[in-house]
Amino acid sequence: MYYPQELIDQIQSNNDIVDVINEYIPLTKKGANYVCLCPFHPDSNPSLTVSRQKQLFKCFACGEGGNVFTFLQKYDGKDFKEAVETLAARAGIKLPESYASDFSKEKYNYRQRLIECNTEAARYFYALLRSEGGKNGMAYFRKRELTDETMKKFGLGYANVDGKDCINYLKSQGFTDKEIIDAGIGIYDEKRGMRAKFWNRVMFPIKNQAGKVIAFGGRVMGDGEPKYLNSQETQIFNKSTNLYAFDLAKASRSTYFILCEGYMDVIALHQAGFNMAVASLGTAFTPQQALLIKRYVKDVYLSYDSDGPGVQAAIRAAKICRDNGLSCKVINMQPHKDPDEFIKNLGKEEYLKRIEEAKNAFIFEIDVIRRKYDLSDPDENTRYDEEVAALLAEMKDEVTRTNYIKACAKDMEISTEALTAMVSKEAKKLSRFNSFTPERKTVHEEKDESREKPQRLMLTYLAEYPSIYPTIEKYITPDDFPDDPYREVAEKFFEDLRNGTASPARMVNLFEDETIQNKVSDMFTCFLKGLESKEERSAAIVDIMYRLKSNAFESLKNDEGGIDPAVFMTKKKELMDIKKLKIILPE
Ligand code: GTP
Ligand code: MN
Repeated sequence: MYYPQELIDQIQSNNDIVDVINEYIPLTKKGANYVCLCPFHPDSNPSLTVSRQKQLFKCFACGEGGNVFTFLQKYDGKDFKEAVETLAARAGIKLPESYASDFSKEKYNYRQRLIECNTEAARYFYALLRSEGGKNGMAYFRKRELTDETMKKFGLGYANVDGKDCINYLKSQGFTDKEIIDAGIGIYDEKRGMRAKFWNRVMFPIKNQAGKVIAFGGRVMGDGEPKYLNSQETQIFNKSTNLYAFDLAKASRSTYFILCEGYMDVIALHQAGFNMAVASLGTAFTPQQALLIKRYVKDVYLSYDSDGPGVQAAIRAAKICRDNGLSCKVINMQPHKDPDEFIKNLGKEEYLKRIEEAKNAFIFEIDVIRRKYDLSDPDENTRYDEEVAALLAEMKDEVTRTNYIKACAKDMEISTEALTAMVSKEAKKLSRFNSFTPERKTVHEEKDESREKPQRLMLTYLAEYPSIYPTIEKYITPDDFPDDPYREVAEKFFEDLRNGTASPARMVNLFEDETIQNKVSDMFTCFLKGLESKEERSAAIVDIMYRLKSNAFESLKNDEGGIDPAVFMTKKKELMDIKKLKIILPE
């Protein structure tokens, strides 16, 4: 980590999460907490809850949660360091110049350096496009009907025939050969040494979520191969986890995203006012990209090419959306090839109509399959039904599957019962080929949940009522939290409880990985439902302690080599003691 924990703590305690969030979204008091419409999913009922006591926020609808740093990271696309800097400035805390382990700082600084190199290159290409030397590029963009405003918004640029110019410019700005190569702007081979990767192309800067330039796409200004040349993957550029124009789409605060195939499609859509359009980066759409989108919206409209490969790519992207919990529709682009051409020919009102008429992606896929068969032939009709049933059988979520079966049965003019029977037949076939049968997976998940839930609830209760800790600690230790990262969190949190410095929000900062941060924030924000009376709550706590202890006891018994009879008796006694326990909750 870049800054020492004490400094992070200081910044955190000087930035009350309620006040900070309130500066972005007005909060309303509700009971002990504050609520607002959740900015991380389309929300009609305030479901984002902010707790002053825990210094955490949590959306009970979409699950997004965290502390004040996480909030800025998610809401503003800042990275952790930027969130720390913003909040330090807000609290008037001066950050020291250098800190932390040299290694991670070095790595961090080098990545920053590579971003600077790309940013500097983007400035160079941008200026060149607008100069005499860039008139070919400018003519190209004009031919494609881009306005000055659009070119500016996307930072479009131009790399001239002599690519060396850009390299020399970067060198004059103090970048070394190694930095220029590692940034993806220069390429090196034994024969020719270092040369420019991009020349004689119009340039599209590619930005990360925070809006920093991390790579480029370059297009030939006519026919030529390859049509688009993209930066290779570098320390700062990962093609499968970034999306083109994601920073802009996120800022649009739209309730849906439009996903297209090409940079020019995105740009044309933005120019027409659809500033929620994004595209993958010259490769197929990935599950990571779906999860990235899901943090902001739950609905995706696909605006892929209308030709054969485009349709197949749309079907694959739709499946990735579905598997990752995004609801997906397909925009019909006919009779045009792609959104860029569509907008040019039919305009934005017509495109908006197409969005409204967009078809559910699964129904779209079934329509495509239907065209392969001659449905007046009974055998072909059966094969069509089977192919659809096989697709339905792949759907993991039962509710979703049932709903789709209903919709498809209607579409296919057969009864829901008949289609359900076909789907279970296909599901059996699938499970024979696939060792992860749906049944087994569910049992496994349930087991995890029954182990993890008491761990989560215990931590939430301790966060809610720190005063019960002296009673709890006689029975429960971090060893009773068998799973990662619960164990680590319990160790630290118990230590803080002993020292009287417990802060759930602080626990989130112990981890750098965002998925783990989410998990940690979840541990302290369980929904404690329906237990209004203090007696009920205190009984619930006893019950949780019992479950925690007996789970730990079970895994001890299951350990190979058996269990020492003396230990067995002690543990058994502890369990009995817990049952008799009375927890006193504060007023
Ligand atoms: P225009 O022809 O400029 O309108 O581009 P387009 O967006 O219509 O391009 P197309 O549909 O051909 O390609 C979609 C996307 O695929 C592009 O934006 C690129 O990201 C990628 N792509 C296209 N051609 C190439 C290529 O030759 N090499 C690589 N690496 N990517 C390509
Ligand atoms: Mn195009």
